[in-house]
Amino acid sequence: MTTPKTYHVKSYGCQMNVYDGERMGELMAAQGLVAAEADQADLVVLNTCHIREKATEKVYSEIGRLKLREAGKPMIAVAGCVAQAEGEEIARRAKVDVVVGPQAYHNLPDLVAKAAEGQLGLDTDMPIASKFGKLPARRKVGPSAFLTVQEGCDKFCTYCVVPYTRGAEVSRPYAAIVDEAKALVDAGAREITLLGQNVNAWGDADGRGLHDLIVALDRIEGLARIRYTTSHPNDMAEGLIEAHASVAKLMPFLHLPVQAGSDRILKAMNRSHTRDSYLRILERVRAARPDIALSGDFIVAFPGETEAEFEETLQLVDAVGYAQCFSFKYSPRPGTPAAEMVDQYLPADVADVRLQRLQAALGRHSQAFNDASVGRRCSVLIERVGRRPGQMIGKSPWLQSVHLETDAKIGDLIEVELVSAGPNSLAGRIVAAG
Ligand code: SAH
Ligand code: SF4
Ligand code: F3S
Repeated sequence: MTTPKTYHVKSYGCQMNVYDGERMGELMAAQGLVAAEADQADLVVLNTCHIREKATEKVYSEIGRLKLREAGKPMIAVAGCVAQAEGEEIARRAKVDVVVGPQAYHNLPDLVAKAAEGQLGLDTDMPIASKFGKLPARRKVGPSAFLTVQEGCDKFCTYCVVPYTRGAEVSRPYAAIVDEAKALVDAGAREITLLGQNVNAWGDADGRGLHDLIVALDRIEGLARIRYTTSHPNDMAEGLIEAHASVAKLMPFLHLPVQAGSDRILKAMNRSHTRDSYLRILERVRAARPDIALSGDFIVAFPGETEAEFEETLQLVDAVGYAQCFSFKYSPRPGTPAAEMVDQYLPADVADVRLQRLQAALGRHSQAFNDASVGRRCSVLIERVGRRPGQMIGKSPWLQSVHLETDAKIGDLIEVELVSAGPNSLAGRIVAAG
């Protein structure tokens, strides 16, 4: 195989993977490779997700497609959580050229060089020293940028592969994060989303917590908006809740997954919070920031979930009134404790009906939240061009997509009145300046 001159990175899964994918792209560009489309590139990096069975299956079908590509088979690198979970097996089974884990991708150039010599480039180590110091500096980013501050998870929810694919909770150093945030702003970011599997577990030896990082970012000139995701209820510290009242740039949005509404199921999931303790946290957050938009993740049909327990999830959804949510059917994952539980599979149609009922309820709440926003004035950060001529799409402070007729450019922050609402987006109109 010859040394690749062009590359393409395709990321699946969570925002941390999107961030990693961008950094792998920057790494390849720093080696002199040029970005290309997936159907043309000499090197295709599949940055994979292992969270549910379907996510993992996608990788194998994508590899199959790449091998039959008209432009010839590219060098294929499997990165991300499937690479970490399946390691050498994926190289053997799918005959790919490089396998690199989420903590080892700074070594991608060496692994590609090895593959070019006809050997398997494999690195799924989880080194103590961080990869971040070995990555090239950020140069050009969009108006809304991601910044990973914390990786890994020590929570071991019984259904979840993340503690195995991403390793133990590790926080990046404060100064490195603040430097990267400044570099992102210089590279074009107006909004930064701090990322971590448990972002609110971020901390350092000097006793700082996530709210200290948020305060540091608040001081960066040119940065207009700060967000963070994903948080765990157990790490929702008072300082962070208070930051929602006192830090102007911190957006009124909180993604705080609960997963289920029944205490028995929460215990079986090893979530270490109850329905009530979760609701009490939201009360405190709402006291600090009354207009906050709440978001969450849900799993239906966990092993042994009864109809009554599922109904408790629906009741919780109604009690909270979420602005937007993600919901999934339980997927048994190899090596996790839940995969060994009895009653593993509820009949597929039961799980399907529960998911539909939950999604219908969540949809009603999203619509209600968006309806209640009509008439509000707010800032919108323009992120992309819309489908119709003259139309632009941006985000409100509450992370709603807002469609606008405007000659504003990508990256502009403009004052808007929200005029109509659907379940997934709103229409806005420019409020005349002055
Ligand atoms: N670190 C984040 C995200 C984890 S993955 C957090 O703790 O919230 C994102 C979501 O995928 C989870 O919140 C959960 O709702 C869902 N998920 C994880 N494992 C799953 C599984 N085995 N089956 C179905 N959904 C799952
Ligand atoms: Fe997975 Fe639970 Fe950790 Fe989230 S907190 S990454 S769901 S183990
Ligand atoms: Fe998927 Fe790994 Fe993220 S399993 S959700 S890509 S941490």
